Amino acid sequence: MEWVSVDKIADHAHELVELRGWVANRRSSGKIRFLQLRDGRGVIQCVVLKNQVSPEVFELADKIPYESSVVVRGEVREDPRSPIGYEIGVRDLIVVSEAGEYPISKKDHGVGFLMDHRHLWLRSSKQHALMRIRSVLTRSAQRFFDEQGFVCIEAPILTPTACEGTTSLFRVEYFDRTAYLTQSGQLYGEAAAMSLGRIYVYGPTFRAEKSKTRRHLTEFWMIEPEMAFWELPETMDLAEGLVCRVVGDVLDKCAAELRVMERDTEPLERVVSPFPRITYSKAVEIIRRRGTPIQWGDDFGADEEAVLTEEFDKPFFVTHYPADIKAFYMKRDETDPRIALAVDLLAPEGYGEIIGGGRREESLELLEKRIREHNLDREPLEWYLDLRRYGSVPHSGFGLGIERAIAWIAGIRHVRETIAFPRLMDRLHP
Ligand code: 4AD
Ligand code: MG
Repeated sequence: MEWVSVDKIADHAHELVELRGWVANRRSSGKIRFLQLRDGRGVIQCVVLKNQVSPEVFELADKIPYESSVVVRGEVREDPRSPIGYEIGVRDLIVVSEAGEYPISKKDHGVGFLMDHRHLWLRSSKQHALMRIRSVLTRSAQRFFDEQGFVCIEAPILTPTACEGTTSLFRVEYFDRTAYLTQSGQLYGEAAAMSLGRIYVYGPTFRAEKSKTRRHLTEFWMIEPEMAFWELPETMDLAEGLVCRVVGDVLDKCAAELRVMERDTEPLERVVSPFPRITYSKAVEIIRRRGTPIQWGDDFGADEEAVLTEEFDKPFFVTHYPADIKAFYMKRDETDPRIALAVDLLAPEGYGEIIGGGRREESLELLEKRIREHNLDREPLEWYLDLRRYGSVPHSGFGLGIERAIAWIAGIRHVRETIAFPRLMDRLHP
């Protein structure tokens, strides 16, 4: 008997097949027992009739604990009431491993409890949907860059210095020195771009953020393209293309998952070029007009960004931020040194920043000055300064935060469910 998976069941209509999975649910009614079998590729109803199986199997079907692993053999039958169009008429049921009493039940559990049982919670339908959306999105983003001749580069995780400010560094004992977990692959991406022209770094990044917000993880993933000889406008075009592509691919390939998430897809259908582009100064004006007090020079928090998103019905760029609130490597506007040539992309519907990036300072002298102004240790950045000593060029790049992008696309408030095992300030387990 052939082992088939639930997603391929239609190819085996009326055949006898074997399925392998877990008992997601069961119920009894008179001489019928119903098992919901989950095999990771789908869920299918298995119908056990008293007169079609041995007495032992019939009894087993009534008692088998939830989440036990089983092999089911039976006939694939068409069933118009089934969401997948088929059910299994069971002939045999074999227990691979009987489960103990499963801690997650149908009742409402708090998020803390579910997060403590994250290793089991991953088996539920919304978590399935989120992991599938994540997988489609990360592949889609990489393919987008691959198709345009970008080279994929892995940046180190253990680094000697900060990239995004010294306040959110994780320290690691590194023999007789201190290393830091990378905050961003960007600096290494810049070195690679000076070698290969267009590259992207895809990997995990770490921030010891002492903020318990719905959009901060301490470990998150970024995809970071870096392009030699690129200015800000074409960098924004690239970010726009990337976001249109990943949203389009998720809409195409994850329609069922978005339904499980109860995501209204109408706002996602609107994610097409061009995206609005406004300056920071204009953004401040809009936020003020909408009744939230803010001064020119203040950084935007989640609240200010949420207010700003009410103005637009699709993702939009904010550019030309005050230099004081941006990282040391940002190039300043030649006409106004208070301004950095930075760009963020904000997702609509209250979500806010999903991309951060900009032009990099290409002058050795100015970069040295910024390192001093930011009180950064120069010695571990000497290699980075070499990029300005040997054939420096204008260049730009950005980073897309994978978890924030998924939270928005899947329509969930908090980023913690967008990654299999989230790391938060107060969560290192499981
Ligand atoms: O804006 P950020 O800090 O920019 C950088 O790290 C640049 N070096 C990227 C580059 O230009 N190559 O972070 C980029 C994105 C943010 O827009 C956000 O989506 C995400 O990374 N991000 C976080 N996601 C989850 N938890 C956190 N603590 C995050 N911090 C940033
Ligand atoms: Mg940012």
